[in-house]
Amino acid sequence: MTDPCKVTGGWQRLGTVLSGAARPTPSDDGVFVNMPVTRGSTVLFPSLDAMNRKGHQRYDHTSGYGAMGSPIQHELEKVIATVEGGTDCQLVGSGLAACTLPLLAFLGAGDHCLFSDNIYGPTRRFAETMLRRFGVEISYFPPMADSAAVAALMRPNTKVVFAESPGSHTFEVQDVPMLAAVAHDHGARLFLDNTWGFGIFSPFSHGVDVSIQALTKYPAGHSDVIAGAITVADPQSWRLLRDAAIQTGQLCGPDECWLTLRGLRTMGVRLSQQARSALHVAQWLKEQPEVMHVLHPALPDCPGHAIWQRDFSGAGCLFGVVLNPCYSQEEMEKLVERLHHFGIGASWGGYESLVLPSTGSISRSFAEPAGQGPGFRLQIGLENADDLIGDLKQALAGLPQNA
Ligand SMILES: Cc1ncc(COP(=O)(O)O)c(C=O)c1O
Repeated sequence: MTDPCKVTGGWQRLGTVLSGAARPTPSDDGVFVNMPVTRGSTVLFPSLDAMNRKGHQRYDHTSGYGAMGSPIQHELEKVIATVEGGTDCQLVGSGLAACTLPLLAFLGAGDHCLFSDNIYGPTRRFAETMLRRFGVEISYFPPMADSAAVAALMRPNTKVVFAESPGSHTFEVQDVPMLAAVAHDHGARLFLDNTWGFGIFSPFSHGVDVSIQALTKYPAGHSDVIAGAITVADPQSWRLLRDAAIQTGQLCGPDECWLTLRGLRTMGVRLSQQARSALHVAQWLKEQPEVMHVLHPALPDCPGHAIWQRDFSGAGCLFGVVLNPCYSQEEMEKLVERLHHFGIGASWGGYESLVLPSTGSISRSFAEPAGQGPGFRLQIGLENADDLIGDLKQALAGLPQNA
């Protein structure tokens, strides 16, 4: 039985940093405690000389023009870089843009990118369509491959290894330090979609070069923002990333930044509560006869559970459920529709519980383990955990009992 403190500890420790970050400095005139939203395109200067000087600082967190970001964007970038443990961060308009922009920044025609087979579907689609069209070679590795197997898939032209840990439908927790060692031995960078691990997995101390976040999820936390962040920890990566952001006009709007900053203030307590409830619900589901596996990194059923124990300081509120193989896809879908407290919808990390069938949203190059039933994904929100269990109980009871 996993100790609930292991899933909540990291979240609780974030409270001080999230409360104190991006706060205006008090002055004799007094300042409001929260940063103002500055909306704008044009930035005015007293002289051409001053304007040109600002223009030359385009790789810094400064704005000579609205498309380079607003003051609140740059403050939020500093907060995300601090939580991730990197040096510089670029905010963009969505989590998907945070996945795709660094691929554009770091890859060119003739390069090879090795993706984990469990990556977020739209990232895979971008690789298969746009990257291939621009002459980038794409291939995949099984998420739980060992170092020899990953090394065997590296090519002389591999520039990027792209991992997602845990996978957002299949929840494999990957050995990130091992992936970093293989990538670096072959002269490549390791990218990580660290959305599930934000605040509880420290990417740069585990060898990651580029860490990707969908701020849409835990940081914004109220299902009312779409935003993304890319964090790096070395000056060369920052120049490449910032240049690509400026050239492609990527930014995050000031209202989205303000809402995300507001969401971050309570992320520690929200996620601490949601992680505790998620573990409680997952442990209950694991005992149910209709359930084959619960894919929650804190439970032994989850591929890479030991790696989660070694590398993470907490757990998220999103996990997978696999039914016994005697149930059909249609029976699973009816179960999903019997739930009252779980909204049927994409995304996760908000205050409310959600459910989504896993099958159909996943495409794979390597075969799934045989003999598994249909699966669905649960996002656990701030509802009472026992109410959620009651709801799941009645939905499971509606499955054919003779199966
Ligand atoms: C793991 C992961 N990465 C990236 C994204 C994309 O985020 P957004 O919805 O902000 O584009 C998602 C969205 O569901 C996700 O689950």
